[in-house]
Amino acid sequence: MNPQVAKFVKEAQFSSPLRRYFFPRYAYNFTPPQLSYLCQCIEATRYVEGSIAEVGCFDGSATVFLNKYMDAQGITKDYFAVDTFCGFVAEDIRVEVDERGKSRDMFKGFQSNKKRWFDGTMKQNGITRVRSIQADVNQFDLTTLGPLSFCLLDVDLYRPIKKSLHELYDVLLPGGIIVVDDCDASVARWDGADQAYKEFMQDRGEPICIVHSKLGKIVKPS
Ligand SMILES: C[S@@+](CC[C@H](N)C(=O)[O-])C[C@H]1O[C@@H](n2cnc3c(N)ncnc32)[C@H](O)[C@@H]1O
Repeated sequence: MNPQVAKFVKEAQFSSPLRRYFFPRYAYNFTPPQLSYLCQCIEATRYVEGSIAEVGCFDGSATVFLNKYMDAQGITKDYFAVDTFCGFVAEDIRVEVDERGKSRDMFKGFQSNKKRWFDGTMKQNGITRVRSIQADVNQFDLTTLGPLSFCLLDVDLYRPIKKSLHELYDVLLPGGIIVVDDCDASVARWDGADQAYKEFMQDRGEPICIVHSKLGKIVKPS
């Protein structure tokens, strides 16, 4: 495009109410230190055989970042990305509302999504190793993803995390790491993640290890 025309179009975008869609915005649910920590976990498990899984991947922002890290570091493992691709499921919300005293309005996020959009985002970023799986984790046997070396578990609510942790840990290889996002008891909306993580660690007699304010770490002994 002619540079003058391109600048005119860009100026029109800047002046429009849709400006935020055309100009760079911070795209992540993680701070830079948290993203950096996730990369460190991938690095620390580089020589553990097995795939990587992101359980709860939404639009693929973190998926792109972590896969670009893998590309840059020459890490060629398979990467599974699991999501409903339409937000929270009714029974998980019911548990938050009826059993954990939350407001139903808290859980309307992440509905504007499609597996096709996620797959297109991977393609647009030149990422070919990611296999997306559309499933409710409560219905899906996560052990079929194994063996795993690293997993980011990011489905936010108590019930799906409680269920997922046991299956993911079963197929995590010795030396492997699981990171549970949102382990922050001070955030009412997501404190189910914190509860499920802490119960898992207590059941196993392992010390709680929450890094960068909200990343619950689980390491399988070698
Ligand atoms: C915080 S987002 C994930 C963000 C993503 N890891 C990132 O950093 O870009 C949480 C995701 O979990 C998904 N989710 C919630 N409950 C689920 C369930 N029962 N089964 C599968 N996915 C679920 C939602 O659809 C949503 O996309």
